[in-house]
Amino acid sequence: MADTASDEGTGRELSAWQIMGPLIDSVTPMAVRVAATLRLADLIGSGTASVADLAESSGADPDALGRLLRHLVCHGVFDEPEPARYTVNGTAALLYSDHPSGMRFSLDLDEFGGRMDFALTGMLHTVRTGKPAWEKVFGAPFWADLAANPAVAASFDATMGAESEQVHDAAIGYAWPARAHVVDVGGGKGALLAEVLQANPEVRATLFDLPETTARAREFLAERGLDGRCTFAGGSFFDQLPTGGDIYVLRHVVHDWGDEEAGTILRRCAEAAGDHGRVIVIESHGTSGDDPGMFAEMDLRMLLISGGRERTVEDYRALASAAGLRVDDVHATRRGQVVLDCVTADITH
Ligand SMILES: C[S@@+](CC[C@H](N)C(=O)[O-])C[C@H]1O[C@@H](n2cnc3c(N)ncnc32)[C@H](O)[C@@H]1O
Repeated sequence: MADTASDEGTGRELSAWQIMGPLIDSVTPMAVRVAATLRLADLIGSGTASVADLAESSGADPDALGRLLRHLVCHGVFDEPEPARYTVNGTAALLYSDHPSGMRFSLDLDEFGGRMDFALTGMLHTVRTGKPAWEKVFGAPFWADLAANPAVAASFDATMGAESEQVHDAAIGYAWPARAHVVDVGGGKGALLAEVLQANPEVRATLFDLPETTARAREFLAERGLDGRCTFAGGSFFDQLPTGGDIYVLRHVVHDWGDEEAGTILRRCAEAAGDHGRVIVIESHGTSGDDPGMFAEMDLRMLLISGGRERTVEDYRALASAAGLRVDDVHATRRGQVVLDCVTADITH
């Protein structure tokens, strides 16, 4: 039998349940999500709030909320400086609605994130079959499910654009030529293009996405006064893309898909970019060496959701090459997103 593990501080023997605890705990991840959904950090603000007041303002049961907070405090989320009164500590501050990570919204169980978490209950099905859990759990493949549920699709678009610090990082992570025409393929609600257009007054843009998403993007850019330099095209990137762009961007799009579909999307970009355009692929987890844990987690998550996958730079090179592209440059952004700058194969720009 293996040596018995002991707690470093007390020297006491640890039970098997204590050793496995952090790996098998399914209570804490859900407790944090409930706190995010009830906006507890926003409600406490920079002061102290009693559990009774928090229950009242969040519409929760006081006894149940107190028990939730007690659990969270034990895990370092929120402080309890005096009995049944709570403050926001450094960890809980990540749950403020205006935090640039967009974490509160992403964890909100009433939004897309909640649906995504629920999909994880189908992991056994995925591992047994190799098929996404989404269809098993929700009765339709991921993109069909979104198409059939406009509120979920709108929440998905909002979630994709919520991580403003990562969007900003991508926008400053590429040297957009001053007068380029940038086509954002699968551009979502337009968060990246808004940043690019704002910072580059002579850049023009086209946002290409599914028609409903394109309509939301038009509103988003109009609210920021940027729609004058942007055209909007609704359609499928498995069909023809608008031609005439200088740069075709795919941010967080390729990892949604298996190799066959990803190859088709890249080929459509290569065809539209033609001899003089470039295709820029931006992904969060481009190198398994940077953070193997995050890479592996996101890789599994993409398989469960839509049958996608995370890829190494070498995987992207192979995919690009099969689609008629050559990776001309690879670099990381300040926050570690990977940017692959591709040109049509055999052409040097
Ligand atoms: C993960 S989101 C990324 C959005 C955005 N590029 C970003 O960085 O936040 C993938 C995008 O692909 C779009 N999409 C999915 N299937 C598509 C299709 N067949 N044709 C065009 N866009 C599609 C979705 O609507 C969504 O906006």
